Amino acid sequence: MTDTTAPAGATAEAFRVVPNPAPATREERADRIANPRFGLVFTDHMARMTWTADEGWGDPRIEPYGPIPLDPAASVLHYAQEIFEGLKAYRWADGSIRTFRPEENAKRLQRSAWRMALPELPVEDFMASIYSLVELDKDWVPTAEGASLYLRPFLIGTDVFLGLRAPKKVDYLLIASPSGPYFAGGVKPVSIWVEKDFFRAGPGGTGAAKCGGNYAASLRPQIAAGERGYDQVLYLDAATGSVLEELGGMNVFVVTRDGTVLTPVLNGNILEGITRSSVIELLDEDGHKTVERNITLKELREGIESGEIAEVFACGTAAVVTPVGRMGGEGFELTVGDGQPGPVTMAVRQRLTDIQYGRAEDTHGWMQRLV
Ligand SMILES: Cc1ncc(COP(=O)(O)O)c(C=O)c1O
Repeated sequence: MTDTTAPAGATAEAFRVVPNPAPATREERADRIANPRFGLVFTDHMARMTWTADEGWGDPRIEPYGPIPLDPAASVLHYAQEIFEGLKAYRWADGSIRTFRPEENAKRLQRSAWRMALPELPVEDFMASIYSLVELDKDWVPTAEGASLYLRPFLIGTDVFLGLRAPKKVDYLLIASPSGPYFAGGVKPVSIWVEKDFFRAGPGGTGAAKCGGNYAASLRPQIAAGERGYDQVLYLDAATGSVLEELGGMNVFVVTRDGTVLTPVLNGNILEGITRSSVIELLDEDGHKTVERNITLKELREGIESGEIAEVFACGTAAVVTPVGRMGGEGFELTVGDGQPGPVTMAVRQRLTDIQYGRAEDTHGWMQRLV
């Protein structure tokens, strides 16, 4: 699908560029992006802005990628004043580079900032940082099928003060990491452990914010699930321990035998996934009835056992749409359907990736051209 629209560019104050004096050579770059494991390879540059309580946001700049000096008393190191986002830039067959619904990430970063008493980065600055960095490091966007440039914007409290307060100095950074297809060699169903002893978030907590602390707290249950032979953890609500919430890094969907698709309602505990809302729209358009409501573990177990629930899938930026083949928890172990990727899961996955990679018309205006 070719699209002749020019990149929209940025309206915010321009990012001044401090070029990397020793960028990777063409050969080094080719080698590093050939088959990168997630999150290990980074481009030559990073974007940055600084906020102070007195002056607000300023000094937009692109710097060489590298370590950042931090005072040992910086607030992020003590009280976890950190939030982040994750989105991808895709190279289309026509050579252009696009990203998927980036303003939604910018707005979610603002909502996370509000919850953590961090300053909200204007959407225009968020967008300008992405345009500027991807333009400069465009050769790092991989061309391989299913590959992309993963973009990681984040905010950290950098003021030097051991007292607990909203930071008076904050840094915004954007780093970029070429990543290969999540499922090399085809989509494989994942297995999920339903966690009863640990909770991801509670009412009034930080579950809907994308703050680093949520992920730190998910590591112990994730390790325990791995030891039990499961790939991912599904969390239940902390108040009753009976209602499905989400995975450590993905939202969850259930497909019933008649093609109705259910997903937990946004209750303040779960992340408002951008893939989640896109999947709901695509399923609606494809004639599925989609329902956002509480789904109990009892209903899930009984539904899988009886065949009333035909498919379960998880979704998020990293893995797009991931079929769930097996679910286990205290006292149960179930195969979902025949354990293989289901037709509804795979159809919506295809619909979404076709839009993201420019193989289908973007009727929603979801793709933003960067280069
Ligand atoms: C806890 C959690 N839930 C859901 C998601 C999926 O969100 P999105 O589709 O916006 O990537 C993510 C990933 O960002 C996540 O970390």
